[in-house]
Amino acid sequence: MCGITARIGEDDSLADLLVSLENLEYRGYDSAGIAVQNGAGIDVNKVEGEVSELQKTLSDHEHDGPIGIGHTRWSTHGPPSDENAHPHTGCQGRVVAVHNGIIENYATLRESLQARGHEFTSDTDTEVIPHLVEERLAAGMDPEIAFRDAIDELEGSYAIAMMVDGDPAVYATRDGSPLVVGVGREANYLASDVPAFLEFTDRVVYLEDGDVVVVTPEDHRITDIDGSPVSRPAETVEWDPEDAEKGSYDHYMLKEINEQPVSLRQTIRGRIEGEDVTLEDFPPGTFTDISRVQLVGCGTSYHAGMYGEWLLSKWGLDANTYIASEYAAYPAPVDEETLVIGVTQSGETADTLEALRSARKRGARTLALTNVIGSTAARTCDDVLLIRAGPEIGVAATKTFSSQVASLVLVGERLVRDVTGDPTEECAERLAALESLPDLVEEVLDTSQAASISQRWSGEAGNFFIGRGNAHAVALEGALKFKEITYEHAEGFAAGELKHGPLALVTAETPVFAIGTGRHPERLESNVREIQTRLAPVIAVAPRTETNLTDTADAFLAVPATHPDLVAVLANVQLQLIAYHAADEMERAIDKPRNLAKSVTVE
Ligand code: F6R
Repeated sequence: MCGITARIGEDDSLADLLVSLENLEYRGYDSAGIAVQNGAGIDVNKVEGEVSELQKTLSDHEHDGPIGIGHTRWSTHGPPSDENAHPHTGCQGRVVAVHNGIIENYATLRESLQARGHEFTSDTDTEVIPHLVEERLAAGMDPEIAFRDAIDELEGSYAIAMMVDGDPAVYATRDGSPLVVGVGREANYLASDVPAFLEFTDRVVYLEDGDVVVVTPEDHRITDIDGSPVSRPAETVEWDPEDAEKGSYDHYMLKEINEQPVSLRQTIRGRIEGEDVTLEDFPPGTFTDISRVQLVGCGTSYHAGMYGEWLLSKWGLDANTYIASEYAAYPAPVDEETLVIGVTQSGETADTLEALRSARKRGARTLALTNVIGSTAARTCDDVLLIRAGPEIGVAATKTFSSQVASLVLVGERLVRDVTGDPTEECAERLAALESLPDLVEEVLDTSQAASISQRWSGEAGNFFIGRGNAHAVALEGALKFKEITYEHAEGFAAGELKHGPLALVTAETPVFAIGTGRHPERLESNVREIQTRLAPVIAVAPRTETNLTDTADAFLAVPATHPDLVAVLANVQLQLIAYHAADEMERAIDKPRNLAKSVTVE
């Protein structure tokens, strides 16, 4: 959570810093701040609210300077306020720092700093950092040594950027939170994530935990905490900056929903050859030693994992999904024949990373299924499969869910061939269906009636989503998307489970979205009838061929017929649109829903 950035150049930095902060707002948006060195000291401006509020404060451009750091916050220690907004300074205002993560021992550090006369102005854990550095500068250390010595005292997870008045450099480090260097022509950059500076440079150096970097206008130099040199290559990222812009859409979420035909084509491109999969780092035989698969993830990624579990189990593999935060706390048994797949768009979710580390430590083989090249998950795991969905900015995950499921189909096909040695006839049919999935998503987007359905059926007392098998995963995902951006009550259930309790909630004021995939249609039909008996309107989300469901339901959102393993991906696109249009009608902050952030780097 939180986004940090820095620009280190010869000319003014404010405009670039504001762009970077806007690009990082998906990581947090309850306060924002910037500090620049302007030759006459360090000018700090910070406000509660979004980056647009900060922009208003800075509109006269009097606060510019060539070297600056910035922050957009998702609160952990202390509520959103001007005082708790970053950057934070020491007592004399000479040292200024921004931070993403949690300093676990901050209370002890703060107490001892206070005992030595330091005065604090915020509730944050971050504020100890400039005070610690300030003390060391006062003792005669140079800024780089003071910075390394101060961070050596910190426990927890962090990415930090710091500057000292009159010193033309930014000092930064990471341990457990992401941080990348952008190598530009006019200036160099630091940020929590690449889209922050993609408009200025596509040359990126991914830092590792424990790295300390000194960035100047001309250069950057990496060491470890003791000052020994560390070498990290600069890589060119292939993302187009336009991918990370909103264009003519009102919201990133709508843009990203509409990008799904393209992002799915990218996910699949070059990975299917005839009746087999050709996954770059996973040639035939890669998984012959695997006898058990565990999938870990959070939120939408957990739902994609559930979808994957269902596919793998159906294909004869021993597969289970775990909510990553639970897995880390109560790890399931693993051995060297266990493959643990971390499903994570950002590759930075603390709970998922913790689960992967725990599995790895206990001897399992780990695979990161992620959208972000160079992310911590990608570097923590034994293997990486990139979902190649392109940057996702809207806090609500949309296109990455589809690409995660498509990637799990691909890796599942490799697994099933390697483990059972027996690709069924169905495998070929499914791969053919996967190849046509982008076109079918396009058809859904072109013909969807979700806007009018969401207007007609708005749940006064709640909104329910039901499905069986892989459609259960999509029911949970449909409900998550709905509650996350409308703030209305929404729940997803396994359709057969409704009668074991949740049916008590069902009334004429609770629309129920029933997702049909073509498997066991008569069972879903009887669930629908149970619901209608309680007067709730049922909206079927299914192929037209699902007449059991479409003829029974009160309204119908059609998806094209395809292989039943993949129909639920199409249904999910309809549910993304339902959530979007309902939230738009309610004028919600769709791209930045309250209390949430895109990348959750705290446990
Ligand atoms: C919901 C959403 C979250 C994320 C979750 C995991 O729309 O986006 O539930 O799916 O925080 O994030 P990643 O996939 O980055 O690990």
